[in-house]
Amino acid sequence: MLREDARKLQLTSVVDNRPLTPDVYHLILKAPKLAAEAKPGQFVMVKVAPGLEPTLRRPFSLHRIDREMGQVEIIYQVVGRGTDILTARRAGEGIEILGPLGNGFCLQEAKLIGLVGGGMGIAPLLAAAEQAVQEGREIVAFLGARTGDYLLAQEEFERLGQVFVVTDDGSVGEKALVSKPLQDYLQTKQLDLILGCGPTPMLKALKSIADTQGTLAQLSLEQRMGCGVGACLGCAFPVKANTPEGYIYKRVCYDGPVFWAHEVLFSLPNEAAKQGGCSGGQS
Ligand SMILES: Cc1cc2nc3c(=O)[nH]c(=O)nc-3n(C[C@H](O)[C@H](O)[C@H](O)COP(=O)(O)OP(=O)(O)OC[C@H]3O[C@@H](n4cnc5c(N)ncnc54)[C@H](O)[C@@H]3O)c2cc1C
Ligand code: FES
Repeated sequence: MLREDARKLQLTSVVDNRPLTPDVYHLILKAPKLAAEAKPGQFVMVKVAPGLEPTLRRPFSLHRIDREMGQVEIIYQVVGRGTDILTARRAGEGIEILGPLGNGFCLQEAKLIGLVGGGMGIAPLLAAAEQAVQEGREIVAFLGARTGDYLLAQEEFERLGQVFVVTDDGSVGEKALVSKPLQDYLQTKQLDLILGCGPTPMLKALKSIADTQGTLAQLSLEQRMGCGVGACLGCAFPVKANTPEGYIYKRVCYDGPVFWAHEVLFSLPNEAAKQGGCSGGQS
């Protein structure tokens, strides 16, 4: 670890760690230095247990940054060994984290911001929404989840602005994908900026909508991470570039996790098409 990364190592203390649903937990950490430095869209690498096992820290977005209380909040879904171990951490225990990491969202001069979140991807959007409203901007949230139980922070968003909710099973809101209310909204109104986080199919749909509408959009990407600080190249992702190939790889942990929608490539450019659209034409 480089010296500048080592400076981001912090011992935090668990304030609360409780289930919101059987497999989704809300973790609150006392972390004054992190809360003072972090910005929405950044993430932390969490050492889920002291000792050697598991060795790798796990990446989690900052759901809320409370500078006054010196606290940060994380919402995490239990999907494997690391997140399962994390559920056992109790109030008062210490947790070592590395952060804040990554670039975070850039709200620019946007006055009306659309936040589009799918499933656990809703988590980092609340911090962005809170900052936006504190700065006197307006927000509209589009939240989608499998079922109503997984619609994170709906009430918190409703305190900040207009909210549209959809679920896969129709248990809360319309039975639809979250791109649907966004498209409906954009038929009559304009957004200055869209911030999106969620599963890849949702991000692809967002990119397509933003491209078609000519709306600026930033997407928070998720890749499997080893180090979280740009050293292992495990999180490389292709983005458009002025190179012979038309793309370069960037590190989601270090160059992202937030990228402009118009630069991300969810599939690599077709090599044959780039050579003039005909393969096998040269001897
Ligand atoms: C920038 C970023 C922010 C994230 N924010 C959140 C969040 O706010 N809430 C949340 O529930 N989840 C979030 N994730 C996903 C979360 O990191 C994984 O679910 C978690 O690492 C799984 O760990 P595990 O040990 O339980 O699972 P395992 O599958 O046992 O993990 C094995 C290894 O793979 C890595 N890994 C597994 N899944 C992912 C994944 N989806 N992304 C990155 N690494 C992964 C683990 O870190 C670990 O090193 C985020 C991921 C990234 C990259
Ligand atoms: S996780 Fe190691 S370079 Fe990104």
